[in-house]
Order: sequence, then structure tokens, then C-alpha cells
Amino acid sequence: MKLLICVALVAAVVTAQTLTDEQKAKWKKWREECREETGVSSEGINQLRTNHFDNVDDKIKAQSLCFGRKSGLINESGDVLADQIKIKLKRVAVDDDEVDRIIKKCVVKKDTPEETAFQTFKCLREEKPKFSPV
Ligand SMILES: *[C@@H]1O[C@H](CO)[C@@H](O)[C@H](O)[C@H]1NC(C)=O
Repeated sequence: MKLLICVALVAAVVTAQTLTDEQKAKWKKWREECREETGVSSEGINQLRTNHFDNVDDKIKAQSLCFGRKSGLINESGDVLADQIKIKLKRVAVDDDEVDRIIKKCVVKKDTPEETAFQTFKCLREEKPKFSPV
């Protein structure tokens, strides 16, 4: 019985985190638009997608910034918009306390907008591997 409840819970969580077709389409569109702008390699795209954050080059960081802007999580001057990230984080976090803790930890301004975007994304994904910016 306990196992059944567990399985049902996991299924519910997995379903909740699955992106809709509309989200997937946006994701693809923004990724391609940004790829044209940044010249990031497919390998770089894969690194971001699969949470492999070692050996990232400048193009991967530029891709993070571009994607963050497209998805409205970073403004034109390169500031991370914590309130917007909160909305997306709530979908994958346990509760509001966890959201606040992660925001405090991850939204930290670095030397350049590219670095800020990348480090913020990395941190969010390390906390919540299923975090979706879309
Ligand atoms: C967003 O951009 C404007 C300038 O365009 C800036 O003044 C503002 O402080 C930025 N940051 C946030 C977090 O809104």
C-alpha cells in the first residue's frame, strides 16, 4: 500500500514537471534564435540541457544570457529578475520557503551579465534539476 502511494506520488510529480507542447515549442524557438546569436555548439546546448556545467566556454555563457532574456528572467541590462524566477521555481519547489532559500542562494550578481546568467542557471539546476526557464 505504501509503495502504491509512493508510485502515485512520483507519477504526479513527474507529470507536473512535464512541459506542454507550447512550452517545448517556445524552448526550441528561443534556443535556435540564441544559437544564431551566440554561435554555441550543439555540445554546448547539450551541456546546458543535461546539467553538465564543467568546462563551459564563453558561448555557453552567452547562450544562458540570451535564453534568460528571451524567457523574461533577465532584463535588457542583464539583471536577473528574481520575481520572475520565483514564479517558475514554484512549479518545481516543495514550498515557498524552499523557493526563497534558492533565490537567495542563486540570484547573485557576477562581473558580467553572461557570467551572472550562467551561474544563476547552474545554481538553480543544481538545486532543482528539473527547473525550467520556459
Ligand atoms: C532592469 O533594467 C533597468 C534598466 O533598463 C534597470 O534600471 C533595472 O534596475 C533593472 N533591474 C531590475 C531587477 O529590474
